Amino acid sequence: MLFDFAAISPQDRYKLLVSTVTPRPIAWIVSQNAHGQLNAAPFSFFNAFSGDPPVVGIGIGSHEPGRLKDTRRNIRETREFVVNLVSEEAAQAMNITAIEFEPSVNELEEAQLETIPSVYVKPPRIAVSPVAMECELMQIVELGPNNGLVLGRVVAMHVRDDVVLNQAKNEIDTPKLKLIGRMHGRGWYARTSDLFQMDRIPRANWKLRESNAPSQR
Ligand SMILES: Cc1cc2nc3c(=O)[nH]c(=O)nc-3n(C[C@H](O)[C@H](O)[C@H](O)COP(=O)(O)O)c2cc1C
Repeated sequence: MLFDFAAISPQDRYKLLVSTVTPRPIAWIVSQNAHGQLNAAPFSFFNAFSGDPPVVGIGIGSHEPGRLKDTRRNIRETREFVVNLVSEEAAQAMNITAIEFEPSVNELEEAQLETIPSVYVKPPRIAVSPVAMECELMQIVELGPNNGLVLGRVVAMHVRDDVVLNQAKNEIDTPKLKLIGRMHGRGWYARTSDLFQMDRIPRANWKLRESNAPSQR
């Protein structure tokens, strides 16, 4: 079935994208405004886009036309934020911070989340998150009147000690992070515990397979 995006409403385009582009990792962002008012909220239009420079991107919308979400307003104002990753144990707290509170509310307090000061940026990180990335704003790409793509340079990453297998080799026990991803609709999530392994195929092996294949003639 063809869904012609020119012929359907913005809500339906959103619905099709979030129902199919799954699972999406969740950036649980802590930011603050110029007066130091803290804010936390989750965003699943999120991924890492480059290792050099180390760049993450987050698609952040508006509460209503003309009223930016607090996270985007804060990042535009202070150019710093922390991306915390969400583990299974933090799912409920993450969900509380998604409530569309007024800007004066500190969602970290509402969800009773402990924070730890960051090293390079002003917003703190969330203690329960096994991974946190301190980020500086590179650029905001405006995506029409209501949405913006925030590109952040990762200046430091914190990883919980027990999931670091070998610090010298930067080896992480990824399954042990127990991160969750966002699925379709508003309330579905995925665990990252159902894994399979598949090695890359060296080009030389592929050529070998072709030359060993029985002739078609
Ligand atoms: C798992 C999850 C993922 C979300 N992803 C996004 C997203 O990618 N972009 C967005 O604009 N809002 C997203 N939201 C909604 C925001 O978290 C919500 O609007 C929040 O209140 C924004 O807070 P703020 O105004 O304090 O920044 C998501 C909500 C949840 C629960």
